Amino acid sequence: MENFSFYVPTSVSFGKGQIENLAPSIKQFGGNKVMLAYGGGSIKANGIYDEVVNELKKANIEYVDCDGIRPNPPVADVRKGIAIYRENACDFILAVGGGSTIDAAKAMAAGVCYDGDVMDLMADGKGEITAAAPLASVLTMAGTGSELDMGGVITGEVNHKKHTIMHPLLYPKFSILDPSYTFSVPEKHSMAGCFDALDHLIECYFVAGSESTDVQNMMNEGLMKSIVKNAPRVLANPEDYDARANIMWASSMALASFQFAVGKKGSNFPMHAMGHELSSLYDMTHGITLALVTPAYLELTLGKVPEYTWLFANFARNVFGVLEDDDFVAAKLGIRKVKEFTLKLNMPKNLKEAGVEEDKLEYLAEKATEWGNIGALCKIEKEEALEIYKRAY
Ligand code: NZQ
Ligand code: ZN
Repeated sequence: MENFSFYVPTSVSFGKGQIENLAPSIKQFGGNKVMLAYGGGSIKANGIYDEVVNELKKANIEYVDCDGIRPNPPVADVRKGIAIYRENACDFILAVGGGSTIDAAKAMAAGVCYDGDVMDLMADGKGEITAAAPLASVLTMAGTGSELDMGGVITGEVNHKKHTIMHPLLYPKFSILDPSYTFSVPEKHSMAGCFDALDHLIECYFVAGSESTDVQNMMNEGLMKSIVKNAPRVLANPEDYDARANIMWASSMALASFQFAVGKKGSNFPMHAMGHELSSLYDMTHGITLALVTPAYLELTLGKVPEYTWLFANFARNVFGVLEDDDFVAAKLGIRKVKEFTLKLNMPKNLKEAGVEEDKLEYLAEKATEWGNIGALCKIEKEEALEIYKRAY
């Protein structure tokens, strides 16, 4: 196993009614004037906004709104938040929403402590994060794991490229996870969130070096299995509390400090790199982009790394219950199960059905690999990326 360090400082209040911990937790981290960051208004329709604001008022915590953060958050929304925070002399950021809101809040937290433009602070930027405002989250949609990690994804202006911002200072101080807050998430976003979480686990599973990481692999398999079991339950009954709770906790655990990729030889999250380009070009929902490219990615990868056939076979048997003695046949069946799972979640069948133009595949492959090889088990350069998009079409 490779050496690694592991650090997740976020405290979690999980379950019904945990919003009662909001005000004491903000005070514990020194918040007196909170910037409340949220999206397009779902929290006003489902009552979560009122619950949050009531808790703040009861504790005499001042707040100012930063509303309208869009999905796949554009940097303009981040800049707006930075300006609101400064104008109102806030000292704490509370994100109430899904991954887009929390990610934007993380970039705002770094941006308010930086003199230049916030794009400098992206992983590929010229600046450095040396300080950040304290931030916390009230999660309203499960999937990204942003509530328990130190990263965010921001859409830049040039080609709408998605950029990562990442720093230990950007871990939420605390996250409130009430599964009943996710009852109102529309089916499309609920299922996209389920697949997103599953894909984080797949990204961490199919990585070189997995032959030595039993703990990571087996814990990962358990979480993947729980998503495969509970996502259809959420689909059948969006108010199934336990199904929502299992999806929420699995999503948070899936990415926490990349816990299932540690000790391996490193991954650039290739399926994510390819999915992000679909979001950049078509503003497509994140989890849907992953459902579209993942089966084709796994298929191509299996063909290129026969020495890892055992890993694909383990995945098939331990996550999807495939009963087949031959490793290669089992591996193929497992990939087919992933595809069937995406269809069960009502994801589009292929890129064509999702509205992607065939003559854009080359461009997408170029952009997905513009920063170099993105592979985790084998090399994924432009040629391989193009082959994956073609197979997914
Ligand atoms: O805009 P609002 O009103 O918040 O509505 C949202 C949005 O329309 C809605 N929604 C959320 N909670 C709801 C609800 N509607 C009704 N009831 C509720 N309780 O759902 C829609 C999608 O929300 P969004 O936050 O965009 O979804 P998600 O959580 O999937 O976040 C996606 C973003 O996260 C990034 C993605 O790239 C994408 O930009 N990711 C962040 C990661 C991270 N920080 O570690 C990792 C992921 O791989 C991912 O890349
Ligand atoms: Zn994701």
